[in-house]
Amino acid sequence: MRGLKDKVALVTGGASGIGAATARRLHEEGALVAISDINIRGAQQIAEEIGDRATAFAYDAMDEQSIVDMVGSTTAHFGRLDILHNNAGALGSDDTTVADTPLEAWDHAMKLNVRAYFVCSKVAIPFMISAGGGVIVNTASSSALGGQLAQTAYGTSKAGIVALTQYIATQYGRQNIRVNSISPGIILTPALLDVAPNLVEVMGPSLLTSYLGTPEDIASTVAFLASDDARYITGQNLCVDGGLFAHAPYVSF
Ligand SMILES: NC(=O)c1ccc[n+]([C@@H]2O[C@H](COP(=O)([O-])OP(=O)(O)OC[C@H]3O[C@@H](n4cnc5c(N)ncnc54)[C@H](O)[C@@H]3O)[C@@H](O)[C@H]2O)c1
Repeated sequence: MRGLKDKVALVTGGASGIGAATARRLHEEGALVAISDINIRGAQQIAEEIGDRATAFAYDAMDEQSIVDMVGSTTAHFGRLDILHNNAGALGSDDTTVADTPLEAWDHAMKLNVRAYFVCSKVAIPFMISAGGGVIVNTASSSALGGQLAQTAYGTSKAGIVALTQYIATQYGRQNIRVNSISPGIILTPALLDVAPNLVEVMGPSLLTSYLGTPEDIASTVAFLASDDARYITGQNLCVDGGLFAHAPYVSF
């Protein structure tokens, strides 16, 4: 992909799953990569595997100062910041129906999944502008696009990310900042298989592909959106979901 060589990329939640695959892919495309995560050991392992063009930083997405420090460490280490992949996030264990979800679970989801992306972008954008521009790719979710029987706060927070993407794209496009979100459908990550080991049987019939997605499917989309090949794409939410949201609900295979 064009335009990624020697760019500086920050991948949040890069210790595992989608973030780890994205860090590896951006490195393969020639970028320098900062991998940040609350799981610093996991982030360091991915950085060590990549080699001297990667580094790891600990941070907690629930803590504003920690996010500010983490972005500052990245720019101090590499001298600039060209690509931000806002990606850290998680489902909530108490996040159920509207009537049953405790306010704490709602607040936790908003803080982790959407406020942290807002803070990270807020800190990163001035660095990008001062360097002439940059790209942000936000991990949203197909949970943002349709109701589910549980995970009310998670889905709503992910819808907030889709909106935040459009706001940043609108406000900073003329300063050469492009922003898009990706809505992964079901992606086979260890964390997801842990909570739902029967995913392939349950979700398979709703997909248009004959297979479920992997972290690498999202990583390649992040790399594309971050590259100059996507220079005319901004403010969009791209579903990477094996066609999950492309068909009428009564179609199953
Ligand atoms: N796996 C899927 O099917 C799927 C589908 C749609 C969206 N997503 C989204 O993709 C993103 C990545 O998820 P994944 O599936 O790779 O899961 P994952 O659990 O493998 O990765 C998430 C990473 O975020 C980190 N993280 C969690 N809380 C943090 C905090 N407070 N501070 C810093 N880091 C923190 C974790 O340590 C972990 O390394 C998330 O935003 C998730 O909501 C995943």
